[in-house]
Amino acid sequence: MLRSHTCGDLNISDKNSSVVLSGWVQKIRDKGFMIWVDLRDRYGVTQLIFDSERTPKNVFEAAKTLGREFVIQVHGTVIERESKNKHIPTGDIEVLVETLQVLNASKTPPFTIENNTDGGEDIRMKYRYLDIRRNPVKESLLFRHRVSMEVRNYLSTSGFIEVETPCLIKSTPEGARDFVVPSRMNSGEFYALPQSPQTFKQLLMVGGMDKYFQIVKCFRDEDLRADRQPEFTQIDCELTFVEQDDILNTFESLTKHLLKTLKGVDVAAFPRMTYNDAMRRYGNDKPDIRFGMEFGELNTLAKGKGFQVFDKQELVVGIAVPGAATFTRKEIDKLIDWVKRPQIGANGLVWVKYNEDGSYKSSVDKFYSQEDLSKWADTCNAQAGDLLLVMAGDTSATRSQLSALRMEMGERLGLRKPDEFAPLWIVDFPLLEWDAETERFHAMHHPFTAPKPDQVSLLETKPEKVYANAYDLVLNGNEIGGGSIRIHDQKLQQRMFDLLGFTKEEAKAQFGFLMDAFQYGAPPHGGIALGFDRLVAILDGKETIRDYIAFPKNNSGRDVMIDAPAPIDTNQLEELALTINKY
Ligand code: AMO
Repeated sequence: MLRSHTCGDLNISDKNSSVVLSGWVQKIRDKGFMIWVDLRDRYGVTQLIFDSERTPKNVFEAAKTLGREFVIQVHGTVIERESKNKHIPTGDIEVLVETLQVLNASKTPPFTIENNTDGGEDIRMKYRYLDIRRNPVKESLLFRHRVSMEVRNYLSTSGFIEVETPCLIKSTPEGARDFVVPSRMNSGEFYALPQSPQTFKQLLMVGGMDKYFQIVKCFRDEDLRADRQPEFTQIDCELTFVEQDDILNTFESLTKHLLKTLKGVDVAAFPRMTYNDAMRRYGNDKPDIRFGMEFGELNTLAKGKGFQVFDKQELVVGIAVPGAATFTRKEIDKLIDWVKRPQIGANGLVWVKYNEDGSYKSSVDKFYSQEDLSKWADTCNAQAGDLLLVMAGDTSATRSQLSALRMEMGERLGLRKPDEFAPLWIVDFPLLEWDAETERFHAMHHPFTAPKPDQVSLLETKPEKVYANAYDLVLNGNEIGGGSIRIHDQKLQQRMFDLLGFTKEEAKAQFGFLMDAFQYGAPPHGGIALGFDRLVAILDGKETIRDYIAFPKNNSGRDVMIDAPAPIDTNQLEELALTINKY
């Protein structure tokens, strides 16, 4: 070993020990007759001291040539520090250096490798291996490892076995575009990278594996956001002979276990909210229930009073922002501008101040009496001192706009506390959603999701009214998991493909293998997949998953460190029988 201890090991009990340390030079303080070096590795930082009187002369001179991020090895003796650093575990001691070997020199890094770096996002991504040396990134990766170990142990102890499924497959319809891989040996044909192992895990159930899990990479070619990467990781699970409740209970217990062991937090039984209730109360199927501000529907109270802006709309709906009646006109105008931005797309905002003295002041005083406004306040559960913000328009668009405003107000008022955890289940999703553009039904979850058993016959008459045995796990306003009870009957699966607009031939070509399998004793089964990157980030009180992925892609789907994607050379293209048209 090139070291006897790590840079996080030594403390006062090691005083007078002879030690060998290896690591990176984080900081050098050269006082002329005395040089201090902070030596860093994954485990911590230990202070080295080179003393012109006690350190051999050649070693002292060599120390003067060190630079930031040099990799060095030192032999020395642990001594007690004169001025102690109470902030780090090694802060009581320093190592008086006797020999020094430079294991590798370093160019000056393009940004400071400290907790608060001077490097912007782009440069840190280009030199990600240097960024990983910084505590915040290192700690995120260590935390990810701990979550993964807890999950593996928990599931394995509960009888799940991990099975690897292939990465070179045929398209799986999870709603995003596929990444495809050309096949050299099968000219003109392509593999798709899995958007999830969905069909394979179902085949494992047909194969009798009973309880499967896999911590698995998935690939989706979709627009990227803070909580989406083109390649991401799922905790993918499937169980045989289960009903919806069994799955919810199993994964509720797993989530509780993670919250307890990793965060020391006990949470009560997770609320279960129907999709329709979530949309009505929060305008969103992944509500953050750490705070209130529930929607109050004002249609009957606000229409028919001469305010035409509301009269002709499908939905009038508001929220009460706690304590915000003190907002100035300027602050409210800024909020109005905020909701009018193209990202939100609202037409405007009506406001009502519910003053501390019980009176109301609003932007629509001309049309509504104090009594009218007091009814609005009641419906929105407002208290004196709150500010009502009201929107109107098409139901679905207005709900999503007000939901964005609710989240923004929650954020601004500090109500989205990172150390508070509010999980819930969203259940009873519609099975299908109508896409007006393509004039077709889409599966809301995926085509393998089973309808509620008592609604199967409705598929023939009113398919849009059928609900699914599908569920999402939501944590702090983020969808961290989704799953369903599956169809295991070949005829029902065929009917589902019909409804989704597949011809018999198309369904056979794409999913014949699954429907074949269903003819050989497919058991009832169901499952769930948790977004591992999201789960890790949220458990750690953050929402940007990039920080929890060692080598993430940027928002254009590029890895700027290795510069991918990149063109391939003509020979490779020819071998794959591909030509590129450049416009
Ligand atoms: P679903 O598509 O809901 O279900 O995905 C499961 C979970 O994966 C996470 N997730 C993502 N995380 C990061 N980046 C992405 N681009 C991304 N896309 C999804 C989310 C999501 O809840 N096969 C089904 C599961 C099943 O039915 O068992 C599936 O993949 O947290």
